[in-house]
Amino acid sequence: MASGHDRPNRHRRTKRSRARRNDATDAHRKRRLAMVDRQIKNRGVTDPRVLAAMESVPRHLFVEESLAGTAYQDHPLPIAASQTISQPYMVALMAQAAEITPDDRVLEVGTGSGYGAAVLAALAAEVVTVERHQKLADAAAELLAELGCHNVEVAKTDGTLGYPRGAPYSAVVVTASTESTPLPLVEQLADGGRLIIPLGPLGEVQHLTRLRRTGDRTTTEPLGRVRFVPLIADD
Ligand SMILES: C[S@@+](CC[C@H](N)C(=O)[O-])C[C@H]1O[C@@H](n2cnc3c(N)ncnc32)[C@H](O)[C@@H]1O
Repeated sequence: MASGHDRPNRHRRTKRSRARRNDATDAHRKRRLAMVDRQIKNRGVTDPRVLAAMESVPRHLFVEESLAGTAYQDHPLPIAASQTISQPYMVALMAQAAEITPDDRVLEVGTGSGYGAAVLAALAAEVVTVERHQKLADAAAELLAELGCHNVEVAKTDGTLGYPRGAPYSAVVVTASTESTPLPLVEQLADGGRLIIPLGPLGEVQHLTRLRRTGDRTTTEPLGRVRFVPLIADD
């Protein structure tokens, strides 16, 4: 559940509309398996645990009902608060790059729809996901709970500060771009931890980067060009 606030009482309407979407479960599952084959395996994501997670998480439930039919296409989609749910391939690439093992505790910065958190939750022991928009944090917390992702905590907070209460993290996955890595995210990494972050100017090509912490040293590797919405710090 999203911390620090009450959730709106809209369960009945939400459950009814989800039940309707579930009528198309088989069609969605076929689309999801095709998505993993064509968009993800084909582009070189090979980690079997990541592929299994991508096959299992019902992405169509994380978008508006009117967009459910396009949920498995090869692009990001709009969600509330003028934000986006990331392209499926990008979610898989970042999850693979984070090298998550079943014992890991993971921090995701940028909950958005909650889809990425659900994928991370299938890979890790515990996930903390933080979001700056209350409305998104609320909706994601409700859906993740409904889907049985009980190893995820959603918090409404400024992720540029990390989430010290849950540190240290084996992996930190940042789903919004920034010109430089916020120091708290590096400080909250465990020894051997991996930080996956899109670095670069807003609206221009950014570089997905993996930073690895070994003791007090860090090394970075570029993972490819990307384009993300901005990471926005609170004033
Ligand atoms: C590309 S979207 C996230 C996609 C998401 N992982 C999903 O699966 O739907 C990036 C998210 O980062 C959030 N964000 C931006 N700056 C933030 C900050 N400082 N702290 C927390 N969240 C932030 C945005 O509000 C947005 O929801």
